[in-house]
Amino acid sequence: MCGIIGYVGKQQALPILLQGLRDLEYRGYDSAGVAVLNDGRINRVREVGKVEKLEKKIEGKNLPGRVGVAHTRWATHGGVTEFNAHPHVVAGKLAIVHNGIIENYRELKERLVMRGVKFESETDTEVLAQLIYENYDGDLTEAVIKSLLKVRGTYGILVMHADHPDRLVAARLGSPLCIGMSDLEQFVASDITAFTPYTRMVQFLKDGEVATIEQSGFKIVNLKNEAVEKNVMQIDWGKESAQKGGFEHFMLKEIFDQPIVFEDALRGRMDMKEGTAKIGGLNMTEEQMRSVNRVMIIAEGTARYAGLVGKYAFERLANLPTEVDFSSEFRYRDPVVDKSTLVLLLSQSGETADTLMALREAKRKGAIVRGIVNVVGSTIAREAGAGTYIHAGAELAVASTKAYTNMIAVLLLYALQFGRLKHTSLATGQRILQSLLEIPEKMNEILKQNDEIKNVAKQYKKYRNILFMGRGVNYPVALEGALKLKEISYIHCEGFAGGEMKHGPLALVSKDVPVVAILTKNQLYEKMKNSIAEVRARGARTLIIATEQDTEASEVADDIIYVPKTMELLEPLLNTIPLQLFAYHIAVALERDVDRPRNLAKSVTVE
Ligand code: F6R
Repeated sequence: MCGIIGYVGKQQALPILLQGLRDLEYRGYDSAGVAVLNDGRINRVREVGKVEKLEKKIEGKNLPGRVGVAHTRWATHGGVTEFNAHPHVVAGKLAIVHNGIIENYRELKERLVMRGVKFESETDTEVLAQLIYENYDGDLTEAVIKSLLKVRGTYGILVMHADHPDRLVAARLGSPLCIGMSDLEQFVASDITAFTPYTRMVQFLKDGEVATIEQSGFKIVNLKNEAVEKNVMQIDWGKESAQKGGFEHFMLKEIFDQPIVFEDALRGRMDMKEGTAKIGGLNMTEEQMRSVNRVMIIAEGTARYAGLVGKYAFERLANLPTEVDFSSEFRYRDPVVDKSTLVLLLSQSGETADTLMALREAKRKGAIVRGIVNVVGSTIAREAGAGTYIHAGAELAVASTKAYTNMIAVLLLYALQFGRLKHTSLATGQRILQSLLEIPEKMNEILKQNDEIKNVAKQYKKYRNILFMGRGVNYPVALEGALKLKEISYIHCEGFAGGEMKHGPLALVSKDVPVVAILTKNQLYEKMKNSIAEVRARGARTLIIATEQDTEASEVADDIIYVPKTMELLEPLLNTIPLQLFAYHIAVALERDVDRPRNLAKSVTVE
């Protein structure tokens, strides 16, 4: 969602801010703006649409200054207009950029209007800007704190004032912000991607913290204005992982990254001799692990589908009843969890608002909580207190791909580590580990078929509706295949469990509604084949994902993509890849904005 970048230092701020905005584009946005402070004056430019349009508007304008703030906005309060775009500037003196939602902005606005304040936008952010301006009495940090104490809602804000040409004030509550430190210059951003070209030393702000940032460093206080200890960390994501590396889109690059980053998810976490996993971040004694009697996996979207694969692994390997839920449902129902329940929160970004709230709810109820997260230092990773990074590297396309496969890898390792304490034999454990080690090579074999998959995909771009069908561990694969295609192509897609077809979805099947089915060689092979025969008999064109050397699968296929054989539990790691490529090539053929599909954001930081 919205992106923030700010700079204070020895260089001209504008080029750094514009580059930061380009690096934040992947988050999804509909307008952008920048403000730079120079000689006691704030110069601001805003534009609806892409950062490119903003840059065109700036061309030929003189915007010098060594301190500035910039923003990409994803509209929540107020339409997509230049007036509503950030930064909001008050009286040419104070500029603010804001991510999040100020829930009580109406009542605050009414009071300000009664005092004669005039507003130029419909946004909640401008209300906060006016409030800070009104509370300002020479000390910007104090004015920010005083104002935030009146606010209900979520925020990550960055404020600049003409009286302080060398200063930015940042604050966060529920919307991420981090400071990138370097010699005589500091960066502030909603995520590290915006400043990784300049520095890897990062301070993540926590909820309720306010930072006063100057060229030479920064100071952090809480909302009581008491000093807070700094906790700077070094991050290892290089700029290269945030570049397309010769691929046309980030999504394609990230699909092709999978064999490499998959190894990163496994590295140092396998004990072949004992046939088990050794996940440091699990941080539990054997006794504590044995006391777990139930697992809950909580996540949204693609992460939840990875979680569904995890359910099969926990039940099969560890004999543990496992439930998978949407974070957005979990947080509002009355989930039954206790100190024997292991609650796993899955999130690529580590910032998904509903998953964060679910984490807090599970903690409040005394469950054992672990985060399985990609972005290092993200809020969920920090608040979980313990857990595991999936090491997928920067994932910038809105559609998640490599984070999904790495989440499954980590879940399999978790399930195996629990399983080896009770249910799973040494031989099975070793077989799983060996099969995991073989996955990258097998992923490569699938990726080599990219051109063939592209040719198949082109033939499906004409359809308005496409169904996906799978059973057992491939049921989540069908759901993920449908999600991937719908979100980037805007074709209506649904995923179904094969056995469920006859109970309703079959009514949708016709020659105009093709079915993509996963028919790999496993215990449900014959049943799946029958279900596919049934949809074919009703005129549906079928695209089948089949195991290589399976000569029978073609009997029910109009189009077929072969994948290498692996253990049944590991099949989703391979079977999803052709569906990612299928979705990608259809979206390209339809000339969609593949990396930034309409209405979607990479990191959903509001409810
Ligand atoms: C789909 C997709 C989303 C995310 C979901 C959760 O391709 O990317 O469905 O999986 O928004 O996001 P994280 O994993 O960041 O919590």
